[in-house]
Order: sequence, then C-alpha cells, then structure tokens
Amino acid sequence: MDERAFSAAQGFLLAAKMYWTTTLYRALRDEFLAKSSVDQKEQSVEDVAAILEDSPLYQYFAWLERHLQRMKYAGRYGLVPYHDERRGELLAALTGDAELDRDLELPGYYTGVDIHQHPGGLWSDATAALVYERGARSTTPMLGEAHKDLHDRFTDVVAAAGPPRRILDMGGGFGKSTGPLAERFPDSSVESVDLSAPCVTLGAHLAKQRQLDNVRYRQMDARSTDYSDASFDLVTSTMVLHELPTKALEELFDEALRVLEPGGRMVHLDFYSIPDGFRRFIHYGHARRNNEPFMQPLASTDLAALLKKKGFVDIEITPFKESEEIDIEKNDAWRFPWTVVTATKPEVSS
Ligand SMILES: C[S@@+](CC[C@H](N)C(=O)[O-])C[C@H]1O[C@@H](n2cnc3c(N)ncnc32)[C@H](O)[C@@H]1O
Repeated sequence: MDERAFSAAQGFLLAAKMYWTTTLYRALRDEFLAKSSVDQKEQSVEDVAAILEDSPLYQYFAWLERHLQRMKYAGRYGLVPYHDERRGELLAALTGDAELDRDLELPGYYTGVDIHQHPGGLWSDATAALVYERGARSTTPMLGEAHKDLHDRFTDVVAAAGPPRRILDMGGGFGKSTGPLAERFPDSSVESVDLSAPCVTLGAHLAKQRQLDNVRYRQMDARSTDYSDASFDLVTSTMVLHELPTKALEELFDEALRVLEPGGRMVHLDFYSIPDGFRRFIHYGHARRNNEPFMQPLASTDLAALLKKKGFVDIEITPFKESEEIDIEKNDAWRFPWTVVTATKPEVSS
C-alpha cells in the first residue's frame, strides 16, 4: 500500500470524524431539543430513544460512527492492512525488555470481541499494539495533539497527593498512561501490567527509547498479579474499567485492595459520570457501535456503593476535564464522559 495513499485516506477519515464529532453531533442535539418537552436531566435512555431512534439524522450519525471506525481499521487503506504489509521491518525495530508470559490464559471477555472494531483485538497479532498506537492518535479528534495532555492532566491529579513510591498501572497498554507516571515520578518504581503481549512489548520499547529506567512492562492479568500483599502505595488505571464485565471489575478492585498498603490510594480514569439522558443515550450507542460491550454496564453500576462494599474508604467520583479548552458543561461536541474515581485502602485498625 502506497504511503501517500494511506496517509491521505486516514486524513480523510479523521476529517470526517471531526465533522461527525461537531457538526453532526450539534444537529442531532438540536433536533432532540426541538422535539423534547421535558427536562433532559429527568429523561431516561428509553425516553431519548423514543424521540430519536427513527430520525434519519440519528441513523446517519450512527451509521457514520460505526463505519468510519471500520474503515480506519479494516478498510482498503486501514491500519491493519498497512501494518500487516510492513510487519517484518516494524517488528524487527522493537527493542526493550518486556516480560512476556506465553502461558497466560486470556479471559473470554477479552478474546470474544474485536474491541474498538480492531480486527483480532489487541492480543492476536504481533502488530496489534502498533495498530492501536496509530489508531489512538485519532480516537478523540477534538483533542488532536492535546491527546497527550489527557494523560499529563491525569498525572497532575495523581501528583496532587504527593509523590508515590511504588506505582502499579493496571492495563497500562503500550504505556500512554504509564509513561507519564514514570516520567513525572522519576524516584518511584512503576510496574505496568497488561494482558496484551504486543502492548507490553511496545511499551518496553518506548520506555527504552525515552530512557525511562524506573518502569517495567509485564504481561499479566491485573486481576491476579504476582505482587505481594501491600506492595504499592498507588494503583492506577486509565480507560480499563469500561473494558471489564462486572465480575472482572470486582476482581480488579479486590486485587487493587490486596496489593495496596494500608492508606494506599487507587486512582482510575474512565467513562462514568454522564450529566443527562441525551448524553447517556449517545454514550450507550457509542458502546454498541464501537464494540465495547462493557461500557454500558460500567456506566450503570453504582461504583461508590461497589467500592464501599469492597472495603475502600474516601471514595470520590469526579468529572474530569481532558483538556484546557474543554468546557464540561457545554454540550456542543461529542466527548467521552471522562471521570476520575479515587478510593483509599483503610489504615489497619488497632
Ligand atoms: C483502552 S486500553 C488503555 C491502555 C492504557 N491504560 C492507556 O491509557 O492507553 C485498555 C487496556 O486494558 C487491557 N486489559 C483489559 N483487561 C485486562 C486485565 N484483566 N488485565 C490487564 N490488562 C487488561 C487491554 O489489553 C488494554 O491494553
């Protein structure tokens, strides 16, 4: 595949996604407001669906969302065929000391769906992380170059409580979340665990390139790690909770509680606090159209009650501003319902 044709096609898809994110989203919101007579905050997803589901504009919006993503990954100029053609040279260039576990059993929820419409998911092909890394650059077109900002801003939230000593980043992927933590806290030791062998391989490669020697990338299930009890003062995750079915989510919280020392904190960034029925309807539709089967269950779980039941204290769930330019209240473009979830392991009582 010609490099120029690939770049032009991906550039076109990104521009179309921007049109979808802004112009089409606003038109749909306006149609909804014109047809709706009640307070949006009071409306359920079913109420909004009754108003919008037969709308040609909504169907166009939904079709475009599904198929732009499909073309981005699997189309003629898609990320998967592009990386497949270049696999030899791309894979040979990867260095780094990732710790792989060839016997790791991948859970059914993980292998059973092509997450994000990524053919074969993040686990079945050695180029999957390179595909994911390239694709992630255009997941939130409004952020553009500020996408990096998202992780730096999350690191700011973490840093507000003082520098951690030992950090476990659960589902650290290829390091978009782990890298900024390792950079910001050079005196901490950081462990990044992920189910995906391609992701930990790319994460270790990028860490080596950036000369980050306080971080390790290990292929491991975050729900059953090999770390000792009470071995971290901070556990983090970004964009992982919504990829887990409820039982797996509970297991992840149990594991975080086990590996945290008393008084240690857990901070997650995910998609959770949704202000009104229209945005909830759009978010649940996004989950279906983007092959994210556990996004809706997470958004409808009472996380505060679940974390309390698990034994955490000081639970805080706060909307998160992913970029300086974003106004959370202003509903004039599609965005993820970014949310920070913080909880603490209680000090041992005497
Ligand atoms: C959307 S990605 C986010 C990656 C990274 N945190 C970031 O912000 O770029 C979700 C990650 O969670 C990983 N994952 C899903 N279930 C997991 C589990 N049980 N244990 C470890 N990693 C898991 C996936 O392989 C994937 O890399």
